[in-house]
Amino acid sequence: MKTILFEINENNIDNSKIREISEILKSGGIVAFPTETVYGLGANAYNKESIKKVFEVKGRPIDNPLIVHISNLEQLKELVIDIPKDAEKLIDKFWPGPITIIFKKKECVPSEVSAGLDTIAVRFPSNKIAQAIIKAVGPIAAPSANSSGKPSGTRARDVLEDLDGKIEGIVVCDSCNIGIESTVFSTFTNEILRPGKISLEEIKEIIPSAKIHENKSEKIISPGMKYKHYAPMARIILFDSAEELDKLKKDNVDKKIEVIYEKDKDKLSEELFFRFREADRQGIELILINRTNEEGIGRALVDRINRAIGK
Ligand code: TXA
Ligand code: MG
Repeated sequence: MKTILFEINENNIDNSKIREISEILKSGGIVAFPTETVYGLGANAYNKESIKKVFEVKGRPIDNPLIVHISNLEQLKELVIDIPKDAEKLIDKFWPGPITIIFKKKECVPSEVSAGLDTIAVRFPSNKIAQAIIKAVGPIAAPSANSSGKPSGTRARDVLEDLDGKIEGIVVCDSCNIGIESTVFSTFTNEILRPGKISLEEIKEIIPSAKIHENKSEKIISPGMKYKHYAPMARIILFDSAEELDKLKKDNVDKKIEVIYEKDKDKLSEELFFRFREADRQGIELILINRTNEEGIGRALVDRINRAIGK
């Protein structure tokens, strides 16, 4: 299959290209598009065959449900049985934006999307290209656009690397400014199931009892979190100080090293996955990253880096 590249400017969206993309999606094809977090691998949420293809091309385990993306609240009502009070508060404060909320799903949502669960994860992205595509097509199921296990794609070239020839199209527009995936929150357990850009501190302002899910029980509440994720080929070691970095460099002079030393957490977030992928392209053997604390988006960074390390 020839993967079509659609160059689109987020600040001056070419509607004829959006129409072309929506035709592909409506007829069952798969198109990767940017969101404000990471690239999504989009398919019509109501088309079972397209959903199955999404799992296939990613090599995604079938028990790992997808997020459905919407562009207005009417679409949310189409998908979910009800909107709990706390969910409403989150929607008012954070949508459109980088938080995904879990709801009870209606029958009309294919079980392929929710991997058999009676719940569904929904997100209203703020990226204008994503919004235009969803507006034209309706609800779109989209996991991150990467082969399973690899760091999520945040640039069109990352997506091409994993999925060229396997999907109908890719939007070329590097507008994933956040760089790591959305926060996933369940109002049923009052928990963050996956940390992301929207922090626990921010959620606590409107839901004081909110907490982080700790996977102690056998029962898996967010299936995606049990898999090894986001891993580059290189080994990763964290350092705390410039002295420690120097020592690590000296101890590993025989290796091809990449240093990620970025104290601004938002910048680190924007670049992390891209840098992992660049390191793979350059055959880096060891990545040294400065440790960050768990405040704000730091919690999500620590989570992603620990998973990349394999903890
Ligand atoms: O920022 C994002 O969320 C990106 C962009 C494309 O929107 N999407 C993304 O999707 O990261 P994905 O498929 O890579 O991750 C979806 C996460 C997984 O951890 C999955 O287990 C969880 O959401 N999830 C989906 N449906 C769920 C449900 N019904 N209950 C609990 N967790 C769910
Ligand atoms: Mg993913």
